Amino acid sequence: MAGLAVNVDHVATLRQARQVLYPDPVAAAIQAELAGCDGIVVHLREDRRHIQDRDVRILRQIVQTKLILEMAATSEMIGIALELKPDVVTLVPEKRNEMTTEGGIDLTVYKDEIGAAIQTLQLNGIRVSVFIDPDPDQVKIAHKINTNIVEIHTGALCETKSIVHQSKCLSKIVDAIKLAHKLNLNVHAGHGLCYQTIKLFEGLHEIDEFSIGHSIISRAIMVGMHTAVKEMLDMIYSL
Ligand code: PXP
Repeated sequence: MAGLAVNVDHVATLRQARQVLYPDPVAAAIQAELAGCDGIVVHLREDRRHIQDRDVRILRQIVQTKLILEMAATSEMIGIALELKPDVVTLVPEKRNEMTTEGGIDLTVYKDEIGAAIQTLQLNGIRVSVFIDPDPDQVKIAHKINTNIVEIHTGALCETKSIVHQSKCLSKIVDAIKLAHKLNLNVHAGHGLCYQTIKLFEGLHEIDEFSIGHSIISRAIMVGMHTAVKEMLDMIYSL
């Protein structure tokens, strides 16, 4: 059965909109864990637009499931990861002007740089996930450079309004997930997933974990964090 890692970046987005102390992503993480999630995800961006260094430091001390740090493979971020030792680092591409992560890392271009980052992190006891588009070549390179986990980008599937395009996106995702599983990689999936699109993954048992943020935090504003996380967990358990 797949697990659920809850991304609490958007709690920090709301806090940073007013530069105040609330709402606190640390409090949201505690609630998410109490509701039964399997991990907490934060993306520490170069521009610190939502999650702050203080958040990651406190989360490192209090998260009881596992802490997944999303970050670009820059020397600054690798230094922070080596010091804080999250359970997992997810390497993502990062552009200053993007609203959110726009695509997977292109390993055909950045294979050497990402391979070196993976090695450094693993030598320090950190498991590494690489966020990639659902493309068999990307999966094969990820395997070659010894990542522990691939996170398959589900954004295109979740954004499209066309049923035909949705089924094409889904079939690419299914193929990438099955290939990664066959290569003995752990498989995560995420980006843009919500309480509707999660149902598309019914019967796809090769997924080890979903990484979901925006839809859960948005629902939490209406129903509370505990209920929002629990409802997503129930949907994942019934896939
Ligand atoms: N996975 C990765 C690699 C991401 O960058 C993000 C967004 O921070 C997510 C998952 C979660 O996406 P969403 O907030 O759309 O659920």
